[in-house]
Amino acid sequence: MAPEVLDRFAAEVAKFPEAGKQSAVMALLAIVQQVEGHVSLQRERDIAAYLGMAPIAVHEVTTFYNMYNQRPVGKFKLNVCTNLPCQLRDGAVALAHLEKKLGVRMGETTADGLFTLQQSECLGACADSPVMLVNDRTMCSFMSNEKLDQLIDGLRATTSEGPKA
Ligand code: FES
Repeated sequence: MAPEVLDRFAAEVAKFPEAGKQSAVMALLAIVQQVEGHVSLQRERDIAAYLGMAPIAVHEVTTFYNMYNQRPVGKFKLNVCTNLPCQLRDGAVALAHLEKKLGVRMGETTADGLFTLQQSECLGACADSPVMLVNDRTMCSFMSNEKLDQLIDGLRATTSEGPKA
């Protein structure tokens, strides 16, 4: 791994007493994802070795939280909540609309590499359904088909803007 990444690892580990350095595992996974876009099995092994953990223990963290990408994703990762409360309020409708608009199935990435569509567990905003998260950061509520269209078109537009004069 690059020296800058190792420096960032060290800064996170330094926040914990030596005996508890494994507590930095989530932060280290987040750093890897930020730098490389996803967390590969090799990087899980690297982190395990760095923290003195079993690789399977790191893998358990990566696979428990769906914000960690286990494979490359598109420029925009769209996580649509499909848990029961959202299903009762058009969560599945929103997912189906995005599948149709983007021409991909849930879990897939568009051919142009722009969008990855995923379902997610409860995002803690059931009353705002349909809800979704863009790139693990931006929460979008009450996503009617019309709002979904606006969102996708708007995100696409941000990638096609030419250089500013
Ligand atoms: S079930 Fe979708 S936000 Fe809670």
